[in-house]
Amino acid sequence: MSNLTRIGVALDSDLLDKFDQHIAKRGYTNRSEAFRDLIRDELVEQTWERPTSKVVGTVTLVYDHHVRMLNEKLTEIQHDAFHTVLSTLHVHLDHDNCLEVLVMRGTAEAVRRVADALISTKGVKHGRLTITTTGTGL
Ligand code: NI
Repeated sequence: MSNLTRIGVALDSDLLDKFDQHIAKRGYTNRSEAFRDLIRDELVEQTWERPTSKVVGTVTLVYDHHVRMLNEKLTEIQHDAFHTVLSTLHVHLDHDNCLEVLVMRGTAEAVRRVADALISTKGVKHGRLTITTTGTGL
């Protein structure tokens, strides 16, 4: 933190109670850090709204590897986006199901495009893009 500025925030006491309970459950020991995280989260979301922003994101996929050609399709999408896909983690959850986590970096538009292509592939049981930041500018 470069320049620390103190601000006063007026809040309804019920809302503040709920906030305090919420952040306690999440493990925060003070409100300031919880507020800072909420603000950073909003700023990260805003960055993703600009298609040309440089971002980092992870995609989590769960799928049955017995589905015909599914592995091949998912691999092809990743090879077509090799500049964007930095790393993958594969876990064999049981006899049938696989979990894959992909770390991606690129423009918001590119990362979203790859994530959408993977998640919408027939046979993927569940998929989710988690948006985050390169860390610069926060
Ligand atoms: Ni597997």
